[in-house]
Amino acid sequence: MNTAAAFADFRSYPLISALTAVQALADRVQVQWADGRLSPFHHQWLRDNCPCPVCVYSVTREQVLEIVDVAEDLKPSASRIDADGCLCIDWQDGHSSRFDPGWLRAHAYDDESRAERRASKPKSQLWNSNLKLPVFEYQAVMDDPKALLQWLLALRDIGLTQVRGVPTEPGSLTQIAKRISFIRESNFGVLFNVQSKADADSNAYTAFNLPLHSDLPTRELQPGLQFLHCLVNEADGGESIFVDGFAIAEALRQEDPEAFHSLCDIPVEFRNKDRHSDYRCLAPIIALDALGQVTEIRMANFLRGPFDASAEQMPKLYHAYRRFIAMTREARFRLMTRLNPGEMWCFDNRRTLHARNAFDPATGARHFQGCYIDRDELLSRILVLQR
Ligand code: OGA
Ligand code: ZN
Ligand code: ZN
Repeated sequence: MNTAAAFADFRSYPLISALTAVQALADRVQVQWADGRLSPFHHQWLRDNCPCPVCVYSVTREQVLEIVDVAEDLKPSASRIDADGCLCIDWQDGHSSRFDPGWLRAHAYDDESRAERRASKPKSQLWNSNLKLPVFEYQAVMDDPKALLQWLLALRDIGLTQVRGVPTEPGSLTQIAKRISFIRESNFGVLFNVQSKADADSNAYTAFNLPLHSDLPTRELQPGLQFLHCLVNEADGGESIFVDGFAIAEALRQEDPEAFHSLCDIPVEFRNKDRHSDYRCLAPIIALDALGQVTEIRMANFLRGPFDASAEQMPKLYHAYRRFIAMTREARFRLMTRLNPGEMWCFDNRRTLHARNAFDPATGARHFQGCYIDRDELLSRILVLQR
């Protein structure tokens, strides 16, 4: 018989510290752990998170209970730690709940536990021109889940990787992209072909230089990951350049805080239009999360519409925009490398800006294929590989 309590999840929660005591207070239960930590759990919180088969459907492990359906002042009639170390609560309305101590500790919300969780969240490792480029082997990533996980962690935390040994047949990109998840299609196709074309529907499909940019800033949600796979690269020029957009944003925050705030606050429109489609998105160039951390850079000068800001804001916006672009051109941030056939860039398109130097199509062929996958897919794949 499985004596461990169930929980509403598919991962496991190791026992970090055992429960040693339970104390009943007016609106909460306070537990003590073997390492001395005290964690309060409000009655509502405990009832809300009851993992029993009535409250959570065991197949989906999703909640069925809605907390509004139990009394707001519901209290335990008894609470104790059972022989398996689980916290057991009998409620005044006759319901009973049993909590796994590993799960409970992982979700405890005393100040110390919350600070610990914040500290253990993955953090972006900012980089500059000195980055030692994280390089991975195609065959290892395809065959070995551990190598796959290492690659994905580098994508999450550094945001720029190269994969070598990718077959150079057109379409090979699909297999490695699918190691992460399904591809995000766009108006440029499931896979897009980066080649100089007479009837180009983007500056990307010319031989012009492309300044540092993110792809599809014209969409409410920019693609999270971008793949660029080199099939042929015989033309002079066309080197790839990358900068860490988060590192530049942080440097701007230090060096010119007013410009940083202008880019966070003033929305800018990006446009991608051709004969059959018309995508527009109005959003700030720098996006912050609830804690003020930079989470996204949106930038492509060749896709930008005219600025629309108040007369008072316009000079501030131009100053900030020029300053940001000037920083993307500074040697301290830039990494430049030429991609060879069988090599592939994979990077966080919402963080790492990419560019290419102009190339001369008269000197030889150049053919890259690309595709996108959303950030959510990367993060989900990492969590499943880590289970
Ligand atoms: C693009 C792009 C880079 C390159 O197609 O969006 O940035 O090296 N291409 O051609
Ligand atoms: Zn229940
Ligand atoms: Zn691009």
